[in-house]
Amino acid sequence: MDRIAVRQSGPLEGTVPISGAKNSVLKLMAATALAPGEFLLHNVPDIADVTWMGELLTTMGMTVERPAPGDLRIVHDGTLVPEAPYELVERMRASIVVLGPLLARYGRARVALPGGDDFGPRPIDMHLRGLEELGASFEFAHGYIEARADQLTGARVLLEFPSVGATENVLLAAVLAKGTTVIDNAAREPEIADLASFLNRMGARVLGAGSSTIQVDGVEQLAPVEHTVIPDRVEAATFLAALGVAGGELLLAGARHDHMDMYAAKLGEMGMRISPDSEGIWAMSTRRLRAVDVSTLPYPGLATDYKPLFVAMLATADGVGIVTENLFAGRFRYVDELVRMGADIRTEGHHAVVRGRPLLSGAPVRAPDIRAGAALVVAALKAEGETIVGDAHHIARGYERFVEKLRAIGADVRAC
Ligand code: UD1
Repeated sequence: MDRIAVRQSGPLEGTVPISGAKNSVLKLMAATALAPGEFLLHNVPDIADVTWMGELLTTMGMTVERPAPGDLRIVHDGTLVPEAPYELVERMRASIVVLGPLLARYGRARVALPGGDDFGPRPIDMHLRGLEELGASFEFAHGYIEARADQLTGARVLLEFPSVGATENVLLAAVLAKGTTVIDNAAREPEIADLASFLNRMGARVLGAGSSTIQVDGVEQLAPVEHTVIPDRVEAATFLAALGVAGGELLLAGARHDHMDMYAAKLGEMGMRISPDSEGIWAMSTRRLRAVDVSTLPYPGLATDYKPLFVAMLATADGVGIVTENLFAGRFRYVDELVRMGADIRTEGHHAVVRGRPLLSGAPVRAPDIRAGAALVVAALKAEGETIVGDAHHIARGYERFVEKLRAIGADVRAC
């Protein structure tokens, strides 16, 4: 069952329940290392990355359970082994985010160095430099980071780039540091604001999360809490892209329009009708999309995670669109797969020029990563014949019941 078969579909009609945000819940799970006791998270997506982060917490000594669908209970007594082994970090780079909380609570951490991935190298120099400002020191041996800090002390941390992971790691360490930390040029993603609200409920003093300057007044201890994870804006974006390609009318239940303003504005430019609704986001697409140019930027700019979705939409839109990647080098691998489906796309460095065609041609392709995999399924909704997307396990890392949700709105999609 590692493949998804897709046939030309549309119009799509109905309601799609949007799950909790992958990129938020993974960090909230890491944050539970900061205090002993019982945490309860709601709106937790049933995806492989959550299972893996659960495995990592379990190897550290926590009990992680799913008491009911959508809920995750995490319990520990505060005597954790502050280590993240290579087998888990290698599978999921986001596990590097345990470094900050482990250092803050245990004064030491041993975390495997993450390798590169399909988006090219993803260094963690800014994470480490930020934690150094708070007084941590690092040694590297046998592929591991050995981190130490007798007492973390608040400091000004100026990030060279608004890195999501570096902002989170510094924030997660600063909450238990002595004194005040100011993170400047912080990432502003909604998932960071969600993490800060979780930490504040635990007793932390975090101000300004969601803006470029975050102030953290360190506290001596934190306590476990119950929290509901924000909706996944990239999942919502994926269903909107499917709507753009296949046409129809959808309600994305639980989605937050205010978390994806720029994406919605672009879809509006492309000809989709889209607006916030009391239950989520409503959208309708009745005509072939118009091509636009797109450039990825840190939030509130267009997320790099949306980029494969734009390329998929542009592949069958009317006109020529240029897509520019400003965050990750080499995140264009899936383009070769789209070309195999008949798309007219040329890439040059950080740019892709996409000339829309009325119809693609179904073909066997492979999902190179989570978002690109989902984008191939989206593109296949307007491909003649059958498209088989292989390596669908990548999609399962980030999408809960992807095939079922698509089938429920009328897409001709099945796992095979
Ligand atoms: C997170 C998201 C990912 C999203 C990205 C950008 C999670 C689990 N992943 O990834 O889906 O695409 O934000 O919105 O939340 N960089 C450095 N040094 C560092 C840190 C980052 O050079 O120490 C570079 C990276 O190589 C990249 C850029 O900064 O080019 C952005 O990375 P960052 O914002 O840190 O992304 P992640 O947190 O890894």
